Amino acid sequence: MSIAELPNAQAVIVHDDLDDLSAAVALRIAELAAQAIAARGAFHVALAGGETPRRCYQKLRELAIDWNHVHVYFGDERCLPNGDAQRNDSMVRESLLDHVAIPTTNIHNIPAELGAREAAAMYASLLGNIAPLDLVLLGMGEDGHTASLFPDNPATESAAAVVPVFDAPKPPAERVSLGLNSLNAARQKIFLVAGAGKRAALERILHGDYLPAARIAVAEWHLDRAATPER
Ligand code: 6PG
Repeated sequence: MSIAELPNAQAVIVHDDLDDLSAAVALRIAELAAQAIAARGAFHVALAGGETPRRCYQKLRELAIDWNHVHVYFGDERCLPNGDAQRNDSMVRESLLDHVAIPTTNIHNIPAELGAREAAAMYASLLGNIAPLDLVLLGMGEDGHTASLFPDNPATESAAAVVPVFDAPKPPAERVSLGLNSLNAARQKIFLVAGAGKRAALERILHGDYLPAARIAVAEWHLDRAATPER
């Protein structure tokens, strides 16, 4: 099977390398932001954590985006103290938000320092006021997880808008994640997947493994060549 047959995908775009992937997704974000702001006066985007999106966020700094009308949320957060370098919001601040003129009131961190249950409940009420999100950016782990929805973890099966996650195999074990329904309800979903380490999970999805990343419907997948199974 060719990667173009990725189940549930709206589009699959293979880029030569992470730099090209990052530039292309940055342009897509700017385009979707302009469309949402023109249509509804605001762009509500949930950003992905991990390392893959870092370069895309750095490239976003250079694009013409009306940050006054952009609201940033997070697809998931690690239950670590505020300001911990390993938090997803720390990476997003360093690579993007500290470099653009976005009002601080437009940045909606997940209060994961409060613990997964309390943070999930608080974030669900915040999201409830704006759902659906205009865009959700997503990464994928080597086990096929996305956001903090891991294979064989009860949080992945929850219907809740925002879910507490325990026993995550990727440290820290305690996290908060948008639930599958919230991720799927977004107007647009974009995956950024790069590196040979992700190829096996993509192969499994191609062959019908219903991994969490495969359960995001109608998503736009941006892959680099290293992550793309040869077919
Ligand atoms: C996290 C992310 C997680 C990430 C994937 C891919 O907390 O780590 O939310 O879902 O997107 O694990 O991570 P990399 O981009 O670092 O490979």
